[in-house]
Amino acid sequence: MRVDGKPYRTVWLDADGWSVWIIDQVLLPHAFKLRRLTKMEEVAQAIFAMQVRGAPLIGVAAAYGLCLAMREDPSDQGLSRAGATLSAARPTAVNLRWAVEQVQRALMPLPPSGRASAAYGLAAQLAEQDVEVCRRIGEHGLGLLRARHEQLGCPAVLNVQTHCNAGWLATVDFGTALSPIYQAHDAGLPLHVWVDETRPRRQGLLTAWELGQHGVPRTLSADGAAAHHLQRGRVDVCIVGTDRTTARGDVCNKIGTYPLALAARAHQVPFYVALPGSTYDGSLQDGVREIPIEERDGNEVRQAQGLLPSGELATISLAPESLPVANPAFDVTPAELVTGYITEHGVLTRAELGRLGGGGP
Ligand code: MRU
Repeated sequence: MRVDGKPYRTVWLDADGWSVWIIDQVLLPHAFKLRRLTKMEEVAQAIFAMQVRGAPLIGVAAAYGLCLAMREDPSDQGLSRAGATLSAARPTAVNLRWAVEQVQRALMPLPPSGRASAAYGLAAQLAEQDVEVCRRIGEHGLGLLRARHEQLGCPAVLNVQTHCNAGWLATVDFGTALSPIYQAHDAGLPLHVWVDETRPRRQGLLTAWELGQHGVPRTLSADGAAAHHLQRGRVDVCIVGTDRTTARGDVCNKIGTYPLALAARAHQVPFYVALPGSTYDGSLQDGVREIPIEERDGNEVRQAQGLLPSGELATISLAPESLPVANPAFDVTPAELVTGYITEHGVLTRAELGRLGGGGP
């Protein structure tokens, strides 16, 4: 996708052929800064600190982390240690573990001397695969958006509601939930997107930013306003991403997705989830009981980052540090609330999810 007209991906190799560039997403939408990573530990820290975030992207970033690790210590222990460090950076999105295990499995039988170059080949392959999968999710989602537009009698604008960021910033390119929106916009389907702010990390600001870069009309509103928009008939379809989806179709996604799904059901608005196979965890059934939910630092709720009137980026305090805070980063939407799953293989029902076969062990 483009930033100020220039094409970017979210992770790429430097011209030196070994170091890795990322967009520092913590600074967005206020500043667009790139960071060069040269050590596996820096990649793990970038994932933990959410400088790279979004389920598909952290998987590919971790694969590049293994490349950097193999340059320094390609032994069996080095490979296991690096895999464990990267996998531990974030617990909920299954793509991270999936990508690490894919690379580890392919490298283990190789002699240590061949592991670094093989790792770079595999990471590049995973990155290309992610781009292609997201492009196909966009194609299938475009069909669905067109059909919804026609079903509603071709209104002047089709209103889409999304939550969090499941755009190109959360993947290598194109995005999952936003990929259909980009394709629909490019195809001339008149769209407007309601963007939930997504407290506390405000990934909605990233969504609003990237939609704006592509010229898609969008409006940001507080998470608590979503049900109100649905009740007033301002939403025609909801599309969200996911960090892990179980065999029976339970969807773990950013905190606040579950109430959106409940409100969509209450107002009979279709609620779709977009996901690549790497986000499907066929080893789990009951998402509520079985998916580990990341509990993040309470200061993410007590504090906020933004621009001061001087234009300086600053963190301000919203609540005293002594105030007890809960900060679960994800919630689980039961399969019954999901209308369909937009995947690289088409729009699937929950009974058809097994066709994805990726993600979990
Ligand atoms: O915590 P983040 O920002 O890494 O989480 C990303 C998400 O939760 C998104 O909800 C997204 O929808 C899934 S990744 C395409």
